[in-house]
Amino acid sequence: MLPPGHYKRQDYMAGRREILVVGNWKMNGLAATGKALAQDIRSHVEKKIAAKVVICPPSPLLNLIGPLLKGSAIGLGAQDCHMEQSGAFTGDVSAEILKDAGCGYVIVGHSERRLGHGESSYVVCQKAQAALAQGIIPILCVGETEKERESGKQKQAVASQLMASLPDDVSAKDFVLAYEPVWAIGTGKVATIEDIKIMHGYIKSLLADIRGWQPEQIRTIYGGSVKQEGARDILLCPAVDGVLVGGASLKAQEFCAIIDAAS
Ligand code: PGA
Repeated sequence: MLPPGHYKRQDYMAGRREILVVGNWKMNGLAATGKALAQDIRSHVEKKIAAKVVICPPSPLLNLIGPLLKGSAIGLGAQDCHMEQSGAFTGDVSAEILKDAGCGYVIVGHSERRLGHGESSYVVCQKAQAALAQGIIPILCVGETEKERESGKQKQAVASQLMASLPDDVSAKDFVLAYEPVWAIGTGKVATIEDIKIMHGYIKSLLADIRGWQPEQIRTIYGGSVKQEGARDILLCPAVDGVLVGGASLKAQEFCAIIDAAS
């Protein structure tokens, strides 16, 4: 396996994809506030589009926000999908329904699903597969708990989630890997730049090693208390291809400042 330090900024910049800024609204936003937020982001992105912006509103708002983004460079994403295409799954939403609603992205394996809804990596893998079958890009989340980090097992935890959640037949361009340390989500505790560098380098090395991809083909983004201040330093890490933003994506001004940092 290649050592994390193997990656040089110039290597990345040469073949690098655009930086991705994903807003995960979680269970927040009503029709009026969601519409206003999406419109504010759209007007901002119209001025600066050096980064790829994706917003992930709650499912009932997808059909409302989707049309507001038409003709813009902003992608529409969902926060979860079911592994089956249709059927008797009360309360769930399939990737086919998301596709129909205009989604190009879907978050799968978020720790709030893994821990809050008991989703195993096996389930996450099936969900990612369901998304891929609809031509939707899964944003696959992995990340260690505080306990795992304290006991020095963060790489082990991330590697085991990654290996079990990533579909076998996926190609590097068809998914995004989000590294989100559980202890950093919604807590205000951001991982250090050094930790972010090490983990992103590790994930790219691991995937390059087991899947035979070039590191620059693999998109890894960081999530966990990303705010306006600090976003630029995270995005300057050579192996970081973007950010997944929760709380700060609910305020247009803050989210737009992160988009500017990415641009
Ligand atoms: P946060 O959430 O930015 O509020 O920490 C990130 C996420 O859960 O994706």
